[in-house]
Amino acid sequence: MNNKEIIEKAKTSHILSKEQLVSILADKNISSFLFKSADEVRQQFVGDEVHLRGLIEFSNICRCNCFYCGLRKDNNNIKRYRLEAEKIINIAKTAKAYGYKTVVLQSGEDAFFNTDKMTEIIKAIKQLNLAVTLSLGEKTKEEYKAYKEAGADRYLLRIETTDKSLYTKLHPNMSFDNRVQCLYNLKELGYEVGTGCLVGLPQQTIEMLADDILFFKELDADMIGLGPFIPSPDTPLKKEKGGTLDISLKVMALTRILLPDINIPATTAMETLDYNGRIMALQSGANVVMPDVTEETYKKMYSIYPGKAGLNNTPEEYKKNITLKIEKLGRTISNGYGFHTRRQNSSL
Ligand code: 5AD
Ligand code: SF4
Repeated sequence: MNNKEIIEKAKTSHILSKEQLVSILADKNISSFLFKSADEVRQQFVGDEVHLRGLIEFSNICRCNCFYCGLRKDNNNIKRYRLEAEKIINIAKTAKAYGYKTVVLQSGEDAFFNTDKMTEIIKAIKQLNLAVTLSLGEKTKEEYKAYKEAGADRYLLRIETTDKSLYTKLHPNMSFDNRVQCLYNLKELGYEVGTGCLVGLPQQTIEMLADDILFFKELDADMIGLGPFIPSPDTPLKKEKGGTLDISLKVMALTRILLPDINIPATTAMETLDYNGRIMALQSGANVVMPDVTEETYKKMYSIYPGKAGLNNTPEEYKKNITLKIEKLGRTISNGYGFHTRRQNSSL
């Protein structure tokens, strides 16, 4: 079978071997066929609705030193901030007023927000009848349990790369096994679990990317967020090349074909590489957009990588723009919470 035939078959079987994934990822002439196929699978399984999630970046303080990230602890060249609980809750209220049904609370690994502080914030936001997604990094199972009991619905924790040796090189003092354990703990606690990877990391091969995709399938993830690695100044990887939009979209499209009914965001990193990146992603398997609803002063300081798309828009403008673009594609903005259709396990 050639790659087109392999993809055609996978559209109904949702199975691809590592060798097949590698062959497709290496194929320079397959992108448009692959993207179209993933778009068809997306339409068949999750329909034409696009779910918006309002992203609140509430602290850029981080105890980790991930080699690729501008927020890493050893970067003394950025201004650090941490929002008050009241401020975070107010941003969630504003997001609700704009029509968002979900907020994503994201931060560096900031120990200031201990279990009591986090559960207080989660409870207050749940009172607003919003779905709550957390993206706070690695915590103990007890902490994850406390957040869940406070009402959190989903948790995002990218595996970043499933190659243990590369993972270890890029994450000083962190354990790959613990990260995997965190993901399984979250699943066990009943969260909708999101993970994902960076594409185009130094020394990353297409074989590793194929393994990443197979890991998503094995974990049976509810959401996969991935994007190109964009070299960030003031990090050890500042001189590296970074990933391309094409290979990122290929990994994303293959993920859609293998996990047909999950939620897949068109990520900011994709739009950062190409003005049209998010739209291309929405036409290649993605069904979610996560506009940044953090106030401008803070979102500028949440500088994971340079040139983050959407920095100069207010949340209101951004929502208007993205709505227009989505409607132009013949798609609609969802009015629902956008849970993983197969699970629908929320309290809302
Ligand atoms: N380029 C692209 N994405 C990055 N992230 C961190 N640093 C970079 C970078 N330089 C991603 C990681 C993390 C998410 C919050 O941001 O995948 O999980
Ligand atoms: Fe911290 Fe996340 Fe950046 Fe790593 S990727 S340094 S955990 S903010």
